[in-house]
Amino acid sequence: MHPSPYLLALRYAVAFCLAVYLAGQVKKPDRLAGRFFAWLMNRSHAPLTDWAFPHLEIPGSATALDVGCGGGRTIHKLAAQAAQVYGIDYAAGSVVASRAHNQRLIAEGRVHVEQASVSRLPFADDQFDVVTAIETQYYWSNLQGDMQEILRVLKPGGRLMVVAESYKGARNDAVLGPVMKLLGSSRLSVDDHRALFLAAGYEGVEIAEERRRGWICAIGAKPGA
Ligand SMILES: C[S@@+](CC[C@H](N)C(=O)[O-])C[C@H]1O[C@@H](n2cnc3c(N)ncnc32)[C@H](O)[C@@H]1O
Repeated sequence: MHPSPYLLALRYAVAFCLAVYLAGQVKKPDRLAGRFFAWLMNRSHAPLTDWAFPHLEIPGSATALDVGCGGGRTIHKLAAQAAQVYGIDYAAGSVVASRAHNQRLIAEGRVHVEQASVSRLPFADDQFDVVTAIETQYYWSNLQGDMQEILRVLKPGGRLMVVAESYKGARNDAVLGPVMKLLGSSRLSVDDHRALFLAAGYEGVEIAEERRRGWICAIGAKPGA
């Protein structure tokens, strides 16, 4: 027996609402679902983050910042190398999850997590040696302006690393491209990444690709070292 058209319509409506809710949570995990999504992001982005990290030199004395820190795994990873680590995220759920994930380091005074937007970082100029942004820049409202805001808080010679598991022209683009479009995310090619860093005022831009998996890691430095 076929389900009635009303039941079918109801099913599609529920599936659509669920998809919209999940997409919203990836962009900005709220307090309610934040713990779950943060846990999910920590797990699903671990291979990407672990691949990217060796590309960035992190001195033991470094002060580091992770922008869009999600579940806080990257903060924890930075703290294994850097002296002081800050994390910011504009979503309350991500802040709660990052604090929980780094509870011990926060108690030791080595990690600090704040709710803030990348567009308005709550830090003085020239404060950080390294800044990381993993799987988050897609959602920034003013990509070039936000990169310039990060440039402001970097020390001269300090470096920003932007990492993504999808980019225009990658092997997985045919599958992930339309999904990213649905999420309303910006999609950049390798050349777009380089142009963005240069337009925002960075120098010495280096880009690494993991072509088999369609990952990208772009690094640029603040001039004036
Ligand atoms: C897909 S998650 C990635 C989280 C984490 N970086 C990781 O690799 O697992 C994107 C995160 O970026 C945060 N985010 C997006 N736009 C932001 C903005 N404009 N300012 C600060 N955080 C932002 C979201 O709240 C979310 O926690």
